[in-house]
Amino acid sequence: MIRSIITGTGSALPVRRVSNAELAETVDTTDEWIVERTGIRFRHIAGPDETTATLAADACRAALSAAGRSAQDIDLIVLATATPDQTFPASATKVQAMLGIDDCVAFDVAAVCSGFLYAVQVVDSMIRAGVHKCALVIGAETFSRILDWEDRTTCVLFGDGAGAIVLEAEESTGRVGGERGILATKLHADGRHNELLYVDGGPSTTGTVGKVRMKGREVFRHAVVNLATVMGESLAAAGLSADDVDWVVPHQANARILDATARKLGLASEKVVVTVDQHANTSAASVPLALDTAVRDGRIKPGQLIVLEAMGGGFTWGAAVVRL
Ligand code: UT7
Repeated sequence: MIRSIITGTGSALPVRRVSNAELAETVDTTDEWIVERTGIRFRHIAGPDETTATLAADACRAALSAAGRSAQDIDLIVLATATPDQTFPASATKVQAMLGIDDCVAFDVAAVCSGFLYAVQVVDSMIRAGVHKCALVIGAETFSRILDWEDRTTCVLFGDGAGAIVLEAEESTGRVGGERGILATKLHADGRHNELLYVDGGPSTTGTVGKVRMKGREVFRHAVVNLATVMGESLAAAGLSADDVDWVVPHQANARILDATARKLGLASEKVVVTVDQHANTSAASVPLALDTAVRDGRIKPGQLIVLEAMGGGFTWGAAVVRL
């Protein structure tokens, strides 16, 4: 039996770091409101030379180095993003070229904030089917480019960044709970909720890129219920329970969502990786960025059981149970 294992993580952030106070100079908001309602203190905003693909490529270089792999070992690149460099081709092919890889499979996945979880399930399935052996799975975004900087209900919430993992095939005995690797994934989508979180443009409708629109309070309500449920489903699929979990690495949308979701599952808040204060909501980049941060600062250690989870526009949501 083949299992896919995470052998390296990496991340990248734009150089420019923007505080709430700096935002409040141009937007009708305050540091107090943003911190109290969201937990966000800073976000990184891409400059003119920084794009989704350049951030993704930097995250990949760090992940490859952590895995002890060279770019030539990679046979698959899947990039989750809602802010590609171009409408086409897929930004994954730009990353491929930036990394100097002559030939591999490369494509993008669009599931907004849940995109990384979608990409993990797709790549895990391809590896377990024996089709690929060594993949880069990336979440990368430049959401600042699709924000309406006059809409204070959205523009204070998001930031730019990228995170990546190297996923490799490893022979396994099939014993689910104890082995390392992706132990279970669970995804959902419910397209009836399009109007609660969307972009008001697109190539096939307005012919424009569009801006982010969100009914935050309603998204919040759905997020807590859906995330707690899907985490429970993925743990059950792995034959494990919340008591087995060392760390939850959640989508970093709002500190209050992280607290409420952990409470619903009966998990101590000390087991939740929180980076929303430093990065804000980086959509598909948020989970791999938080994962890399917690691996590099020593919180997450080899052998520990982690649950990744995210929810976003669509709605789409999902979770993955992984032993590192
Ligand atoms: O990544 C995809 C998933 N996304 C999410 O999970 C986001 C989920 N939603 C949220 O995180 C929260 O709902 C928000 C942070 C977006 C909003 O927090 P809230 O506690 O739900 O606030 P609210 O939307 O109910 O707004 C409360 C008040 C309103 O004023 P009134 O109508 O009560 O007078 C807003 O106009 O806060 C006002 N407000 C602001 N005030 C200062 C909204 N945005 C701001 C702002 N600064 N930036």
